[in-house]
Amino acid sequence: MKVHFPIKRGVVLDKTVGYVYAVDGVDLSIRQGETYGLVGESGCGKSTLGRAMLKLTEPTAGKVVFDGVDLSSMKGEPLRTMRRRMQMVFQDPMSSLDPRQSVESLLVEGMRAHGLDKGKESTGRRLRELLSAVGLPSTSLRKYPHEFSGGQRQRIGIARALSVEPDLIVADEPVSALDVSVQAQVINLLEDLQTEFGLTYLVIAHDLAVVRHISDRVGVMYLGGLVEEANSDQIYTEPLHPYTKALMSAVPVPDPVVEDVRERILLAGDLPSPANPPTGCRFHTRCPWRQESRCDTERPALRELAPGHKVACHWAEDIRDGRIRAHEVKPQLTQDDWDTGADDNSLAGPASVTETLGP
Ligand SMILES: Nc1ncnc2c1ncn2[C@@H]1O[C@H](COP(=O)(O)OP(=O)(O)OP(=O)(O)O)[C@@H](O)[C@H]1O
Ligand code: SF4
Ligand SMILES: [Mg+2]
Repeated sequence: MKVHFPIKRGVVLDKTVGYVYAVDGVDLSIRQGETYGLVGESGCGKSTLGRAMLKLTEPTAGKVVFDGVDLSSMKGEPLRTMRRRMQMVFQDPMSSLDPRQSVESLLVEGMRAHGLDKGKESTGRRLRELLSAVGLPSTSLRKYPHEFSGGQRQRIGIARALSVEPDLIVADEPVSALDVSVQAQVINLLEDLQTEFGLTYLVIAHDLAVVRHISDRVGVMYLGGLVEEANSDQIYTEPLHPYTKALMSAVPVPDPVVEDVRERILLAGDLPSPANPPTGCRFHTRCPWRQESRCDTERPALRELAPGHKVACHWAEDIRDGRIRAHEVKPQLTQDDWDTGADDNSLAGPASVTETLGP
């Protein structure tokens, strides 16, 4: 899957001067009934990937196969029918729920669109079932989104996704906007609903703690690519990719003794721009294990190092076995800094900027 957004310039935005490589070659599969956690820094392409999977964003290249059916060429009615089975839960329920609609009308809307509103009585029963499934009283039906707390609003968002009886739910940062005390409740609710309705989840989060609790498998994204994928235990006990190691080292450990001696890997420099990603391994500008050969020039493929544990790093085995040690990283200039470059070509921009124009 690739999703490249054109960067437009010119008076009527008619010139494409480059692309944001939001998702740039990701290949992943989600098994029926599992929870797949997708993590990574802000801007690495998680939401874009989730949206492209549901065909809410048109991919630049690649395809989506859902339950054996290729969605790539689907349009119109067949796509709409398929979409019922794939629903999205958003980060901020306040902005994803229309404030002028009552809860009843919010929930009935999707059901009606998919022909699931089959009469007053059965729909009424269904609405009460939905509310009870997400732990809200049936009196909520007549209320409006602003009359609820953040956690309750997210329950409405979840009920709305459930209203059309989906198989897959893509939850994009489902608890990031909620108080910590409420986060666990909503996570537990998602887990209960999964068991009850046999749902499959893609849970997107930048918070590793959220994903750890809920996921069977975890994928780590960096600048539009998947750098590591493993089951949840493996990724927390033995992260193999340098980027995952750094992410993990930032997660506090509840044991104060372990916490004191814990090694932290601080990443030097900023996240490079996805409009001008580094050559070779995209992480090489910040990688404490970077090597002279291959890292800057060759993009590493996602390889399986142990059963089910995939890593995109040329040197993963050597790092794992201690043959290569971490070293200090000097922050490098990113694309936004290029006009401070002192070479003769600086007015035209460095070669690396122009080279990446075009998909
Ligand atoms: N419609 C769009 N047009 C142009 N660029 C976009 C569009 N949507 C996303 N982007 C860019 O694509 C990149 C990836 O964005 P995306 O929202 O997928 O990241 P994310 O990992 O979900 O980040 P966050 O954790 O902040 O939600 C960003 O640089 C973003 O600015
Ligand atoms: S390929 Fe090189 S730069 Fe990339 S993560 Fe591995 S060691 Fe680091
Ligand atoms: Mg996002």
